[in-house]
This record gives sequence, C-alpha cells and structure tokens, in this order.
Amino acid sequence: AATANYTFTVESMRVSQLCNSTDIIAVNGQLPGPTIEVNEGDAVAVNVINGSPYNLTIHWHGILQLLTPWADGPSMVTQCPIQPNSSYTYRFNVTGQEGTLWWHAHSSFLRATVYGALIIRPKNGSSYPFPAPDREVPVVLGEWWNRNVVDVESDAVSSGQLPSQSDAFTINGLTGELYQCANETFTVDVQPNTTVLLRVINAGLNTHLFFRVAGHAFTVVAVDACYTANYTTDTLVLAPGHTVDALMVANASAGSYYVAVQAYDSLSPNTMAASDETTATGIVRYNSTSTNSTATPVMPTMPGSSDSATANAFYFGLRGPAPASPGAAAVPSKVDVNMTIELGLGQLPCDSTQTSCAGNAVAAAMNGMSFRLPMQMSLLEAQFNGTPGVYTADFPDVPPPSGTPMTVGTKVRRLKYNSTVEIVLQNPTAFPSENHPIHLHGFNFFVLAQGLGNFTPGNVSGYNLVDPVSRNTLAVPTGGWAVIRFVANNPGMWFFHCHLDAHVPMGLGMVFAVDNGTTPGSFLPPPPADLPNFGRDPVTLPV
Ligand code: C2O
Repeated sequence: AATANYTFTVESMRVSQLCNSTDIIAVNGQLPGPTIEVNEGDAVAVNVINGSPYNLTIHWHGILQLLTPWADGPSMVTQCPIQPNSSYTYRFNVTGQEGTLWWHAHSSFLRATVYGALIIRPKNGSSYPFPAPDREVPVVLGEWWNRNVVDVESDAVSSGQLPSQSDAFTINGLTGELYQCANETFTVDVQPNTTVLLRVINAGLNTHLFFRVAGHAFTVVAVDACYTANYTTDTLVLAPGHTVDALMVANASAGSYYVAVQAYDSLSPNTMAASDETTATGIVRYNSTSTNSTATPVMPTMPGSSDSATANAFYFGLRGPAPASPGAAAVPSKVDVNMTIELGLGQLPCDSTQTSCAGNAVAAAMNGMSFRLPMQMSLLEAQFNGTPGVYTADFPDVPPPSGTPMTVGTKVRRLKYNSTVEIVLQNPTAFPSENHPIHLHGFNFFVLAQGLGNFTPGNVSGYNLVDPVSRNTLAVPTGGWAVIRFVANNPGMWFFHCHLDAHVPMGLGMVFAVDNGTTPGSFLPPPPADLPNFGRDPVTLPV
C-alpha cells in the first residue's frame, strides 16, 4: 500500500462573499480545503503547519484510527492543540472502510472554514459494489458567516447564549446566485444518460440540510463511508457530520437544473421558526453547448424547513447491504454493556469565565452530566500515563431521576477491550426537543432501531439485527430515540458528542475510555515525538 503525503498550511485568507470582504482561516488558500484521495489500505501523513493566530487541531471525521488514537484530533481529548507557528504530522492508516468522509478543525468554531473532503476508493484492482459511475463529484455543503467564527463562538460562550446563525449556506464554498453579490456558481456539466456519483458532505456547523436536484432522483449507495443497500429518493438529508454517496443518472431533458440546499429545522414543537430560510444553489447543466445559456434553471420543490417527516423517512429508510453481499458486516449478538443516554437541554448558573452572562447559561447534558474538556492535559495523555485528576470514570449508564439538576464534569465511561456496547439514545419528548447528530470517534456503529416518543422494552423485538445501516454519526430524531451497537476494539479515548458545534461547549458529550487488551496489537501506542504538549515534558499534573 502507498502513503499519501499532504502538507496543510493553515492561514488567514481574505474572501469576498455576500458583498463583504471577510478574513477566514483556511487550508492552503482554498475553501473547501484540499481533498484527500486514497485507496483503501493506504497510509496517510498530513503535516499540519499552523500559521493562524489560533490554537488548532484537525480531525479525520469517520476514520477508524485503529491503534492510532494520537492522530484522531479532537482538542484536549486526544491531543493539546497545535499552537500558532507550530506543526504536527497526523499519521494513520485507512483500513476496512470505503466511501466519502471528510476532515475538519476540532477546536473552537474553526471547522466553519477549515474543512475538506476525504475520499476512500477501493484498492487498485477492486471495484465499487455498484456499477462504476461515469464521473465523481465532491459536493461539500457549508455555512458562511460574515463575522469571525472564533468571535461568534466566544461571544456565545461568554454570554451563555446560543450563537448567532450563519449568513448563508454554501456548496463547495460558493453561495449560488440567490444570494447577493454571488460569485461563481457550483456547476456540474453532464452528458445525457451518464451516471454521476455525488459525494455529499454536510460540513456545516449547526444546520441540518435538505439537498435536492430538480428533475433528478438519487440512489444512495453509502453513508459515512459505509455501504448501504440501494435506496432511491429525491431528497438527501444530512445532519452536520453526515456524508452520503449518491448516484444520479442524468436522464432529464436537455436544460439546466438547480441543485438546492436548505435548512431542516428540527426543533419541536416548531414554535420558533428559528431557521435560516435561505437557499444555496448550484447548477446541473446538460450539454452546455446546446443549452440556451439564458434559460433560468428549473428549481426543485424543497421540503418545508420543519419537515421532520421527510428527514425521518430518509434516516429510517436506510439499510446496510444484504447479509453476505459486498460491504456487509455481521452484527455482534452478545452485548456486554447496556447504556441509556438521555440528551438534555437546560440551564446552568453562569460561571466566572462567562463574563457577559446574566443569571443562567444555556447548557446541555448527557445523563445529566454537562461535559467539560480538561484544560491542562489531553484525556489520552492522562489515560496513557495514568495521570490522576484529569477525568473521573463515573459517567452514569442510565439517566438520573427526572428533575435532578445538571452537573458539570469530565466524566468518561471505561470499556473493556473488545466489549460490545449497546446504547439507547433518548431525546426529550417535550419541548425543547431537536434532532441531535451524535458522533462517535474511533468506531462505526450499527443503527438497530429508531422511533418516535419514548423508548420502551417492547422496542427490543423490533431491532434490525440482519441488515442495519452502519454510521459514525446518528441523527437522533426529534422527540424520539435510536439504538446503536458497536465493538470497543480500539484502545484510547473516544469522544461521543453532538455534532452541532454550538452544543459542544454547552456540554452535550462524553468520552469512552477503552482499555488495553491483553494480546499484542491491542495496546495504546506511545505518543508520536511531535505531539503538541504546550512545552510540558514529561507530562505531570498535581492530583
Ligand atoms: Cu466531526 Cu468530534 O467530530
């Protein structure tokens, strides 16, 4: 297998968008940043040079990082950030997964502009488990702020309020012509009756998105770099963090068709109409020469912004490949650890760091615990060195009695190497409930069941143990629940958190601490020599 080497230089860059000139942090002067393209089985080395004024880390979203936990990237979970004018080389292997993933900054709100696609093709000589497309097009959806996003986040955190909304949605960095002062438009030129593989990524911070192309349907073949059974739909739904590989046959009549991207606002009951109702557009254009270039493209009819039925139909409809077909994986039948995790939104008294906060701050919790990252040392260093005082291992397996006030902590759940874990994720069934895309680092999981209302033991008989879809990010339905199962076959510290970036500083996360196994190949490796550690050497902390 080959090693794919990349250098990411992270720097400030001036961009004209929405009639403004804005300084953003970008990689190699590109938005989106460079696409990483590898074949399954390859090794990757990315030297990240931080020329920005901010502390920074990069996460390879969905990469399993088997025995390379030091390359995972979430700030203060697996590493201290790369400080300005420093660098760190992320080294990992891409094994046992194919399809579309992505990479993004995993510190403050920097992922708003520090992101790009990560494409894994089958090994040379192997083919896709579907007819080869004529073309492949990465379609990276994003959110755009006219303000500096680090300021957007720190204002929200210090005031204890939710951050302001983005000013636009983007497709491959471009807003499309329905916004003012639009620059170039994302355009796909197609030949009639060819097949295009769209590699769609929701790189947005906080907004779930509906995606349609007028006059065209899609066949979904993979999500989160896990193959699926073919699923036909005219609407793709992507929560922040999700990826979808979809085949689109260019079988419409000659002309041009809008690609449209709009918000799915899952807040329920939807009394606030809080979502941004604007539309990012691109164009699918047939035979550009014969098309009348002045004709207005056809616009798709989009779902309503609070159309949870369409979102749930998409998510609930996905299946894994049929047993024994390419890409199929067997569900482990014996469960070692059963957990129920309640996702809660609420309030906590302002703390002393929240300088512009009055009274209470918005907060979020898993099982009543509002998660805080450690400040002095990453969790993975503390685990590797056995340093006490950085975290506690008392994350509760079940929700506290209702009415229990939220607590603040850095709690992990220890797992024995190779144990099988099943988690019921429960959203509130009353306001405020919203769809939280819960992302697990280090593993893919099977999605055994999803439903509305409260999970009950009677739902167990409805588990799909035959062909469940596998994912790394699960959109827990608003007012509902979902059940996942995974095997903890990777020692290290693995963040499990809401992928709405606004909910991370609010505390909607926890960490799984997977122990070493007993056989060679099941131990935490030592940290790489260039791991950033703020100059501490050796690592010590008072108890
Ligand atoms: Cu895509 Cu913890 O993140």
